Amino acid sequence: MEKLIDVITRTTEDAFEKAGYDRKLGHVSVSNRPDLCEYQCNGAMAGAKQYHKAPIMIAEAVVDEMKKADIFASVEAVKPGFINITLNPAKVSAYLDEMRTDDDLSVTKTEQPKTIIIDYGGPNVAKPLHVGHLRSAVIGESIKRMGRRLGNRVIGDVHLGDWGLQMGLIITELQERKPDLPYFDESYTGEYPAEAPFTISELEEIYPCASGKSKEDPAYKEKALEATAELQRGRRGYMALWKHIMQVSVTDLKKNYEKLDVHFDLWKGESDAQPYIAPMVEKMKNDGYAYMDQGALIVDVAEPTDQKEVPPCMILKSDGASLYTTTDLATIVQREEDYHPDEIIYVVDKRQEMHFIQTFRCARKCGLVGPDTKFTFVGFGTMNGKDGKPFKTREGGVMRLENLIRDIDDEMYKKIVENRSVRDKDAGETAEVVGLSALKYGDLSNQASKDYIFDVDRFTSFEGNTGPYILYTIVRIKSILSRYEEQGASATDGAILAPAGDPEKKLMLQTARYNEALEEAWENYAPHRLCAYIYELANDFNSFYHETKILAEEDEARKKSWISLIRLVKNVLEDAIDVLGFSAPDRM
Ligand code: ARG
Repeated sequence: MEKLIDVITRTTEDAFEKAGYDRKLGHVSVSNRPDLCEYQCNGAMAGAKQYHKAPIMIAEAVVDEMKKADIFASVEAVKPGFINITLNPAKVSAYLDEMRTDDDLSVTKTEQPKTIIIDYGGPNVAKPLHVGHLRSAVIGESIKRMGRRLGNRVIGDVHLGDWGLQMGLIITELQERKPDLPYFDESYTGEYPAEAPFTISELEEIYPCASGKSKEDPAYKEKALEATAELQRGRRGYMALWKHIMQVSVTDLKKNYEKLDVHFDLWKGESDAQPYIAPMVEKMKNDGYAYMDQGALIVDVAEPTDQKEVPPCMILKSDGASLYTTTDLATIVQREEDYHPDEIIYVVDKRQEMHFIQTFRCARKCGLVGPDTKFTFVGFGTMNGKDGKPFKTREGGVMRLENLIRDIDDEMYKKIVENRSVRDKDAGETAEVVGLSALKYGDLSNQASKDYIFDVDRFTSFEGNTGPYILYTIVRIKSILSRYEEQGASATDGAILAPAGDPEKKLMLQTARYNEALEEAWENYAPHRLCAYIYELANDFNSFYHETKILAEEDEARKKSWISLIRLVKNVLEDAIDVLGFSAPDRM
């Protein structure tokens, strides 16, 4: 459906034109004085210079034209030259009535769907998933869903960190502990066991232990580096161990992401890019982009307009080893070959921004992608504790994601039981559903690039700008709808009638803005805007609800209209939270 704001703008532009002015002046926005009007146009002020006229004169002439359009209830020219707009209530309800029967809830799918790869999650294999990886997963999942909701083909790739020193460290530590395993015997030619020689908990203990040792013992570190190099050269026993580490780790990662309702289409990683490195480097050299500098192979990526220094991209170290950047570039080659994407979005900690500036420039300069491929870096800030410092456990360690989720669920469980409206046997399940909303909304409602404070008490509250508040609103609507059905009312809802009062009209206007809010959030890779939209929608619903006796209404047509309206509000809220990556229970 055409966006309501576009209908209003088009009508206003027509009025400017009919009054003899440039139609471009007819830009309309939501009023910043809701006490005076619903929408406003400041075009007369902008046109004053161009036409050497007092803005109020332009405004008055345009208003005369606007008054002829039936979409407005009142249009007013106000000094010095504002145009204040109030919509015709019957037009607003007609818009909603159409929206109510639209399967897409007024959202128009893009006419030119794009193929987009979104690189998010980015966990490192064999290291436990910690809260730092939470933001990437939560924000990335939502951006992916937004893109899809608007009709694009969006492919999510977890891009595992699966090829670094951590693998060599684990192999080294394992060899110290179990030297007799066949993986370490270079003369062994038989089949390796199918079963991994460790469990996930052992693996998670092995890594920090090895990492600690390597920091203290240079000989140990040397061994780990050598093991990493041998693995990367393809030593048979180490490859077999690597496969075990991957298998055990990925199974665990999948379980964790499942709990977060985060799903990847591709489980590729840094290791998958390795075969692409050698030919890529050859091409960069042959085309004259990469050159040797103090033994290292580099590509210059600085541009004359740079405000701060952008160092050259290092492709190979002097010992021939590749780097994080090399892998990311080779991954671009791979993605280009497999999907020829229109865009690649990276959802990564904002401290890695320079790395991505270099990578993007290098990829473009060396022709790894065409000139039209878009690269987008969505950098996010740090999740802090209440002390304003990066979030830690009470003991000061890195908080594991699993424990964080458990803490939220426990807190939610307490609150739900206190609420007592759910029978105990459901409370556990409900706590998980509501807990996820607390966790995700708490993150997503902040602008991604900003740091935020993780506050369990606030995030799990049923009041204020929180996930549970949004769910509570949905549950409230569901309960009205089921009581309505219990009254034996016919299943068919009635047409949405023109609003009877101000809170109802406000609710209608906000509902009608769904398509606008969703598009804006997607275009800016900004789930927080969708959160702000649903928070306002929930508030508008609750204001309406508090002053309306829906089920006791005697006028059947009015009652049916309200039922249709609140069902639409529920559908919009549920659609939006699905895009954000969580869902609502039936009761709370
Ligand atoms: N594994 C990396 C980390 O933990 C994040 C990967 C981000 N994606 C990428 N293509 N570099 O920092």
